[in-house]
Amino acid sequence: MLLTEFNTVNFSPSCERNKHAIAEQLLRYFKHSKSVLEIGSLSGQHAAHFAPLLPHLRWQPSDLAENVRALTQNIANSDISNIEAPIALDVSHRHLWPEQKYDGIFSANSLHIMSWSHVECFFKNLQQCLVEHAVLCIYGPFKYQGEFTSRSNANFDLWLKDRDMVSGVRDFEMVHQLAEDIGFSLKQDINMPANNQLLIWQRKSGSAK
Ligand SMILES: C[S@@+](CC[C@H](N)C(=O)[O-])C[C@H]1O[C@@H](n2cnc3c(N)ncnc32)[C@H](O)[C@@H]1O
Repeated sequence: MLLTEFNTVNFSPSCERNKHAIAEQLLRYFKHSKSVLEIGSLSGQHAAHFAPLLPHLRWQPSDLAENVRALTQNIANSDISNIEAPIALDVSHRHLWPEQKYDGIFSANSLHIMSWSHVECFFKNLQQCLVEHAVLCIYGPFKYQGEFTSRSNANFDLWLKDRDMVSGVRDFEMVHQLAEDIGFSLKQDINMPANNQLLIWQRKSGSAK
């Protein structure tokens, strides 16, 4: 499904570039999922591309309250039957997290935008809406052992911090620790185009709240 720049609020050219490579992996990892919660959907381009490719599941887009109106409009324009109406979700507000349980979670390019304390909230609050064996897929740039994977990611980090000092490319090891703390084990760390990663975790048996 193509959401064109013409009728898409908050249109992201990078989503158009990365959605095919991400979809290839999600087809494997969300193969048995029934309901996926996306955090930080913004324009909904990823939702509108992935949901029709995964017709066996329901895709729940979300974003900060101020972005939900545009997101809702974009999703309505896409006319896809297995996308739920977008919900307002700020990861740091525990009461905004859905009461429903999900067996898949997806988020792209959000952890380097939100502050580190919000990244911690993301993982802490995520627990309440997960089933056992839930799959968590996070896409974006990461550092490893404190090193950027490319000069362009180092420059991107400077650009992010200049824009908002709480933002920044995250350390894989620190994010992985947060995932482990809520019962996930790493299934795969996939090198993606343009120096991004797709990190896949799955929740271990007996770790559901
Ligand atoms: C760079 S955009 C990424 C949008 C889209 N996922 C993509 O890949 O193009 C970062 C997204 O994270 C969202 N975000 C930032 N802080 C957030 C928070 N505390 N809770 C939920 N979403 C947040 C922003 O509103 C925005 O939609």
